[in-house]
Amino acid sequence: MHTLTNGIQVFCKGDTNKQPLIFIHGFPFDHTLWDEVIEQLKDDFYCISYDIRGFGESEVGHGQYTMESYVDDLEAIISELDLRQVILCGFSMGGYIALRANERLQNFKALILANTTTTSDDDEAKLKRAKAMHDIDKEGVEPFLDNFFTAAFTQNYRQEQQEKIALLKEKILGFDPVGIKGALLAMISRTDTTQSLENTPPALLITASDDAIIEAKTMKDLASKMEDSHFVELQESGHVSMLQKPQEFAKAMRSFLII
Ligand code: MLT
Repeated sequence: MHTLTNGIQVFCKGDTNKQPLIFIHGFPFDHTLWDEVIEQLKDDFYCISYDIRGFGESEVGHGQYTMESYVDDLEAIISELDLRQVILCGFSMGGYIALRANERLQNFKALILANTTTTSDDDEAKLKRAKAMHDIDKEGVEPFLDNFFTAAFTQNYRQEQQEKIALLKEKILGFDPVGIKGALLAMISRTDTTQSLENTPPALLITASDDAIIEAKTMKDLASKMEDSHFVELQESGHVSMLQKPQEFAKAMRSFLII
């Protein structure tokens, strides 16, 4: 583990001389979301994951986050670890960060975008997130998380992996609600990055057949707007595809990365 000067916890696996891959987790998880995928790639790539500010072991601070402040943190990781020719792999909210980072910094070698989108929240989504922040204040994180898990994982997975889901829930309930509400705020206020698709490096888009949060069709549309994109739809998986289908996820990454 490496603690950045700004309080972000970074976890590196593999040979520093190999191609750096930065993994950006989604909401409301932490870097361990990537453990199984990284396990399969760490011998061939320099795999860097981190806890987004407010989650896991990273600092929470004031909780007034924006996508810009998340990109600032990512930039600090790249600079402090002195990384070049970085490939970003972002899942869902991590994809929002990757897409905005690509738009702002424009120096990535490739993008891997999983279960994510470029559009910003419409009014309905903004109000839903504002209500979630209000409800978390009144009732705590648990009811919100239960609803989120119902949407994020397929019913089969929730039934088959009850212990895994219970552990994940326990971990997230240990996070500071300020960090969770801060992420909701950052997502409400994020900008639309659709225009930047015309100007992206080679990209792999990974979606899941049963994603109830960001539909597979949304990602297919994104792929069609990009000049150099590869599209993979993982079957029998919900939104959190790298947890539900780690082998298939890593395989899709490997085929893209060796092209
Ligand atoms: C995520 O998985 O990061 C979130 O569901 C994204 C979102 O709520 O827009």
